[in-house]
Amino acid sequence: MRPAVIAATGLYTPPESISNAELVAAFNAYVADFNQTNAARISAGEIEPLAPSSVEFIEKASGIKARYVVEKAGIIDPKIMRPVIPERPNEEISILAEIAVKAAEQALERWGKPRERIGAVLCAASNMQRGYPAMAIEVQNALGLGGFAFDMNVACSSATFGLKTAADFVGSGSVDAVLMVNPEICSGHLNFRDRDSHFIFGDVATAAIVERADDAQDGWDILGTKLKTQFSNNIRNNFGFLNRAAPEGRDLPDKLFVQQGRKVFKEVVPMVSEMIIDHAAELGIDPHGLKRLWLHQANINMNEIIGRKVLGREPSREENVIILDDYANTSSAGSIIAFHKYSDDLKSGDHGLICSFGAGYSAGTVFVKKR
Ligand SMILES: CC(C)(COP(=O)(O)OP(=O)(O)OC[C@H]1O[C@@H](n2cnc3c(N)ncnc32)[C@H](O)[C@@H]1OP(=O)(O)O)[C@@H](O)C(=O)NCCC(=O)NCCS
Repeated sequence: MRPAVIAATGLYTPPESISNAELVAAFNAYVADFNQTNAARISAGEIEPLAPSSVEFIEKASGIKARYVVEKAGIIDPKIMRPVIPERPNEEISILAEIAVKAAEQALERWGKPRERIGAVLCAASNMQRGYPAMAIEVQNALGLGGFAFDMNVACSSATFGLKTAADFVGSGSVDAVLMVNPEICSGHLNFRDRDSHFIFGDVATAAIVERADDAQDGWDILGTKLKTQFSNNIRNNFGFLNRAAPEGRDLPDKLFVQQGRKVFKEVVPMVSEMIIDHAAELGIDPHGLKRLWLHQANINMNEIIGRKVLGREPSREENVIILDDYANTSSAGSIIAFHKYSDDLKSGDHGLICSFGAGYSAGTVFVKKR
């Protein structure tokens, strides 16, 4: 296998952000209205009143303080509570491809090489805007790239699965360089009326270019990639093309993100910590010597436990990067945002780890060394 490097990355952050206070105000207005409208049924004991959400709970339980979104007004309107994104004509670029292209343009600019060198485009994300044509092909077309393109979805682990796929394509000689994009419009699959999860996700797009090492002047050597999956129903999204075939047909409620957060926390933390330590051992890397962790960004408490186990010490914020406070969980893009924003300062020879975990369950580890 030819060695591969992560040569450049890109990030597109939507301009609008929602603070916890704004989100909770919308949720609690919805709850007050529901409880008032249903007061008679509640006092007759037919239904339970809805409980309010709280800023303090969200920050303490998750570490999230705000999230960027592609459309804010609809989400924080208690009568709507979803992003309002008008459908576009087929002649216009889709919104998911549009944000991917913005992140990709930045990665291509930072890379600084002719884009004809890109032989493949991967769109690796949790939610594709449609079945087909592939989002990746639309991105490839918008950027004027050749080669081939396809979509892949491994939920929150899509980006590490994408990096491994890219490194393997480059390694086998199929192509010399791959562009991976991770457009995540997570607000589209989030139930903003669900107290347990209304605060969890944000929107963003990231991009990474992986190329053959002997073509690269700088960047990050990919020392090893490992993927793992283990079936679980604890994080699920049942939206799909067969929904309309159910006997209830179009009367079905929207199929949105659901999870058993406590179970996910308990099961995923040991699974991922063990995977990182085992993979480091296979590669002959001392995990205590890692200079930086760019972990999946779902929950600050999870990342602190994993960070402690892997590094064998209380990691500083510099060593264990947290971006979920500003971005919330952006699914597959989280670890790539962390890497993009907080990697330039490391020195040649420094080792670090990009790691994802999430629905499936799925997890991926990518050990890198600064050139
Ligand atoms: C989702 C998550 C933040 C919830 O935190 P938690 O500490 O597990 O919270 P729980 O759901 O157990 O709820 C604890 C209490 O807070 C309450 N609560 C839940 N949501 C609340 C809200 N929005 N506001 C106020 N209180 C809330 C619950 O009712 C419960 O009350 P009780 O103790 O009286 O029963 C956390 O479990 C998590 O992040 N898990 C990992 C998820 C993950 O990584 N998923 C990957 C997704 S891609």
